Amino acid sequence: MPAARELDIVLFGATGFTGGLTADYLATHAPPGLRWALAGRNADKLETVRDRLASLDERWDELPLLHADVTDPDTLAAVAERARVVITTVGPYLEYGEPLVAACAAAGTDYVDLTGEPEFVDLMWAAHHETAVDSGARLVHACGFDSVPHDLGALFTVGHLPDDQAISLRGVVRLKATFSGGTFHSAMHSFSRRGEMREARSARRSAEPRPEGRSSKPTGARPHRDPVLGYWLLPLPTIDPIIVARSGAALPAYGPRFRYSHFAGTRTLPYAVGGALGAGLLGLAAQVRPLRELALRRVPRGEGPDAARRDASWFTVHFVGEAGGQTVRTKVSGGDPGYTETSKMLAQSALCLAFDDLPPTAGQVTTAQAMGQALIDRLRADGITFEVVA
Ligand SMILES: NC(=O)c1ccc[n+]([C@@H]2O[C@H](COP(=O)([O-])OP(=O)(O)OC[C@H]3O[C@@H](n4cnc5c(N)ncnc54)[C@H](OP(=O)(O)O)[C@@H]3O)[C@@H](O)[C@H]2O)c1
Repeated sequence: MPAARELDIVLFGATGFTGGLTADYLATHAPPGLRWALAGRNADKLETVRDRLASLDERWDELPLLHADVTDPDTLAAVAERARVVITTVGPYLEYGEPLVAACAAAGTDYVDLTGEPEFVDLMWAAHHETAVDSGARLVHACGFDSVPHDLGALFTVGHLPDDQAISLRGVVRLKATFSGGTFHSAMHSFSRRGEMREARSARRSAEPRPEGRSSKPTGARPHRDPVLGYWLLPLPTIDPIIVARSGAALPAYGPRFRYSHFAGTRTLPYAVGGALGAGLLGLAAQVRPLRELALRRVPRGEGPDAARRDASWFTVHFVGEAGGQTVRTKVSGGDPGYTETSKMLAQSALCLAFDDLPPTAGQVTTAQAMGQALIDRLRADGITFEVVA
């Protein structure tokens, strides 16, 4: 970690919806002496964000503003070279993300983002993992609701099971929330590229070394009623099971044979059927260009749920882990998953990388692998619960 750099953290994307919330969070939770800056392509918008931050805390009156545009790699290299950790909320990441990953990998700068796009993560592994291993950069994708509660919840749960037995774990997500324009655009873009996503994943699978003597995989899941939790479960093919299984491959605590399945949980069957139909229709619309473009026009970028809606939102992830005849149930829960808690998770991930005593890692790593218990402690201290239920 390059401690000698002029800035601890640079936030790229503060002029957007989630980036703005992340800026507010850092402005109100910065440890004493934090050296941070905002980066973006539009100087006027950056100044407006800085004025808002200064109204929250006058320390940020002179917060440095850096020019950075994803279409100009030199500006990204300059940002990466000045910072210890770069946060980016500039998405869709498949569209805008790679140049900053490349700059951070080359400069040995830690990097955190909010992607939920599996293809992007696999492409970045293929293109920049080795460079980051050599430079010492930790490239940590999916530091928001995708996939922090799932990745750290799985880590927390396996910590209550023996590590010398096969572990079977399922995560069941329940939430009340709405999404921003940026999230909708990223999701539609990602859904429209199923073939490319499969190709990137299989290319990575054939190139990435597997852990010796151990195995870790996401398992195929089918809709059913959970006998332990009593919810109707629908398979949830997000990036989360992939990330959890990667942590399982990296960390011996997940035992010799780790299997993870990931679901949305509903109380009643009609909700489950309605949810499956809605997701199926959206997935279908994403494949058909005119329908996709029509949907994207209706949800503009830069906007998202207001404070009242966020305050009324919540999430819970239940985990059921089984190993050697032992069962453990745990729960991770918090407020608005997509934005209030996501901006907290993202900002705390950056602070954790910058200031905590962490196991030595480099290259593309998961939140469990890079930060693990240190990040759980930070999130717990700010209201996200991790608890053993039974
Ligand atoms: N997985 C999760 O848990 C989760 C949760 C929330 C958000 N997200 C992801 O986070 C991303 C952002 O979402 P959002 O709703 O905050 O999006 P948004 O409001 O549209 O913000 C996008 C940001 O990207 C910037 N940008 C666009 N093109 C740029 C360029 N060429 N150079 C520099 N900056 C550029 C915009 O800057 P300007 O202001 O200059 O246009 C803006 O700051 C999305 O990919 C979304 O999926 C993920």
